[in-house]
Amino acid sequence: MYSKIIGTGSYLPAKVLNNFDLEKIVDTTDEWIVSRSGIHERHIAADDEVTSDLALQASLRAIAMAGISADEIDLIIVATTTPDKTFPSTACILQDKLGITSGGAAFDMQAVCGGFVYALNTADLYIRGGQAKTVLVVGAEVLSRILDWTDRTTCVLFGDGAGAVVLQASEEPGIIAAKLHSDGRHHALLRADGSICNGEVQGDPFIKMEGQSVFKFAVTVLSKVVDEVLADTGLQGSDIDWLVPHQANIRIIEATAKKLGLSMDNVVVTVAQHGNTSSASIPLALDAAVRDGSIKAGQHLLLEAIGGGFTWGAVLLRW
Ligand code: UT7
Repeated sequence: MYSKIIGTGSYLPAKVLNNFDLEKIVDTTDEWIVSRSGIHERHIAADDEVTSDLALQASLRAIAMAGISADEIDLIIVATTTPDKTFPSTACILQDKLGITSGGAAFDMQAVCGGFVYALNTADLYIRGGQAKTVLVVGAEVLSRILDWTDRTTCVLFGDGAGAVVLQASEEPGIIAAKLHSDGRHHALLRADGSICNGEVQGDPFIKMEGQSVFKFAVTVLSKVVDEVLADTGLQGSDIDWLVPHQANIRIIEATAKKLGLSMDNVVVTVAQHGNTSSASIPLALDAAVRDGSIKAGQHLLLEAIGGGFTWGAVLLRW
């Protein structure tokens, strides 16, 4: 028994903030942002949009592509660092917005930018363990709410958005290997100490990041974890048709592709248009490449991400 992605969807808020807009807000330049991160623009949620709203739009698109009824979903996992509320979970709120009353399970997963690979691996285990048949896995964030717009070292990097996949039990290979890691010793390097509730800020909610340390750690462990999942399957880097990486920085993405011996032609890159959308970045990139026809049946995809904690991991699947 495998689990296979049968539908993808994504949603980006209408408002676009480009680097030139940011030049007017903080002491930065388009040249600095592009050369250090590869980001040109990012989307920002409207004042009345919360994470579950973004998640809903992405989910509806994934459900439509999957050709299922929402009531068939027996588990929802929402990876998010910016939940609507302290509780209940954004997954439960999403379940309600989707009109699902069939009583399946729903919970959030908090692994920051590593959240989507954590959630996908968890969903796969639920399916292969026989506890769920059809799982909605969502990565959704309104990171703009936890950015200090006077801190140029962070506010230029992040954006809002959501991506979703429907995963279903299948006899054909889908997810074929996954590996997750964390190392809590580094929790202070990338963090947000306070909290946010219904748009209200409590304590210091803003993202703090020691960028260079995160960068170095990311390059090292992502290279290792992609090797680990390949080793589990006997596949080589050259067998990967598409690397679908977390979109934090084009230089980190290029380093991982190089380690795998992959051309950038085999890498899905959306960081220029989306910025770093944390747990949403992989499903946003995946949906873009599925819908433009780049990803085709039978191809091998490698997904990888790292986030605060640190958490990191990779998932290898056959499309
Ligand atoms: O998603 C979770 C994982 N997150 C990541 O993977 C992010 C990892 N880190 C990075 O992507 C990079 O470290 C950054 C893009 C955040 C920064 O790039 P960098 O090449 O590591 O730059 P830096 O932090 O070493 O800063 C270089 C200089 C500094 O000035 P001095 O000290 O050399 O005079 C900064 O103050 O750039 C300055 N700087 C800026 N200048 C213009 C920092 N932010 C900006 C800015 N505009 N926005």
